Amino acid sequence: MKRKVIGSIAIVILLLIGGVVFLNSPFNSSGDKTLPEGVKQGDLSILEVNAQEPKERPVKTFNLTAEESEWEISEGKKVNAWTYNGTVPGEPLRVTEGDYIKINLKNELDVPVTIHWHGMLLPNKMDGVPGLTQNAVQPGKSFTYEFIANDAGTYWYHSHQHSSKQVDKGLYGSLVIEEKEKEYKKEQSFILDEWAVYQEKRDITNMGGMMKGAMNGNGEADTEQMYDTFTVNGKSGDAVEPFIIKEGETARLRFVNAGYQQHLLAFPKDAMRVIEIDGEKVKNPDGTSNVLEIAPGERIDVAYTRQSGEPTVIRETGGENADGALIPVVSSEGENPVESKQSTSSTSSDVATGTSFGSEEVIFNEEPEPDVTYDMELNMGMDMGEGVAFQINDQVFPNTPPIDVKEGDIVKVNITNSGNMNHPMHLHGHRFQVASINGKKYDSPIVKDLIHVKPGEAYTIYFKADNKGEWLFHCHDNNHADRGMVTIIDYKGVYSPFSLGGEYNNQPN
Ligand code: C2O
Ligand code: CU
Repeated sequence: MKRKVIGSIAIVILLLIGGVVFLNSPFNSSGDKTLPEGVKQGDLSILEVNAQEPKERPVKTFNLTAEESEWEISEGKKVNAWTYNGTVPGEPLRVTEGDYIKINLKNELDVPVTIHWHGMLLPNKMDGVPGLTQNAVQPGKSFTYEFIANDAGTYWYHSHQHSSKQVDKGLYGSLVIEEKEKEYKKEQSFILDEWAVYQEKRDITNMGGMMKGAMNGNGEADTEQMYDTFTVNGKSGDAVEPFIIKEGETARLRFVNAGYQQHLLAFPKDAMRVIEIDGEKVKNPDGTSNVLEIAPGERIDVAYTRQSGEPTVIRETGGENADGALIPVVSSEGENPVESKQSTSSTSSDVATGTSFGSEEVIFNEEPEPDVTYDMELNMGMDMGEGVAFQINDQVFPNTPPIDVKEGDIVKVNITNSGNMNHPMHLHGHRFQVASINGKKYDSPIVKDLIHVKPGEAYTIYFKADNKGEWLFHCHDNNHADRGMVTIIDYKGVYSPFSLGGEYNNQPN
């Protein structure tokens, strides 16, 4: 099991302290004006590609301040949080499709931060990845993000600087792009997360947890042992704000999983229909599932119809900390919801996941002929004394082999999970089509930007290289990303003028 891991871990440690750069990586070795190593004459900086302008579009401006706050998770239970504008989640951002958004980020923390616009197709330089698309925003400094809000849907934003720690501490919020003609009058966003409130966040290398993980087989136990409290919109259990809706009314519920564990939410029978996944409308949604599985980083929207009868509860099913994640559904303030017996019983065939439905619009009508094929093997390595590494093709970032593309390429990626932990793999700046699982083609393929790859699973995905830049492709269990499970879509003809580490302490994971 040792193999190359020792070397890779040593490299990661070197990176953390020194900002070492590799010649064959898309990063350059300096931020100065001379052409970085490995960059050809005529190559463009990522700062020079795909600029956007507001032109005639309405401009919506937001101010987000990254700051420290005491945050009350449940009555009497406060945590020290890092927030955008003082709350967890941060200030909700809501715009209409076609708007031009400007967000002024001010950093009042004593560590550098950024904002990544999860799921948005935007110019590379607005992607918020320190060391790749910008320098981390230093304490006391500001940075303005601006881009067109093109596709209506549910998105979210979060820091991408040392994200395993900063997203954990609350640096995230929702970004909703409304359709010009809204289908649902009533709607609400719910961001799920987990926290270490009663215990210190345990290290991922905790042997007991890892052993349990290997044994119980849900692929989550490494993360499960790190946290003790589940939250919905920053609140846990009784502190979660009830959702007010009248009997017979239907609302759009937008779910985002900002945590590093999958969450399973049970609804009353026949009350829920999946309508959108990762910002893409789904086709033929049925109403037969009453449990929704949401992977870390994933967004799933449902149409929820409040049935007649008693006020109810939408809640996490099973698991030690399930009591924290629940949404009381009531008709008016002050009502007391009751648990419906139906909602807690579920069989696995009742579970709707991020790949249960096909997309209304696909990228490819047929399985295309790829220009580039990349085999991505996800695995774990372990080394006594050093801990655990999460690897792509036996390497840890930034030593993982990049996916080399040129503009216009059709890219095929075969993702195989040969380890025993779940890996929700997220691609920046593009959407991909999921063509098959374990060699079996989907009749109705889905278009996504995150694919939850469980132990033993193999997915084939395709995307069009149509957004020049340097883009991350990584596990959204950020604790795994932090330990190596990250690679880059590296376009020919462009380079990043930024580098990892260095005086800005750029640390994307
Ligand atoms: Cu939610 Cu690299 O992103
Ligand atoms: Cu992972």
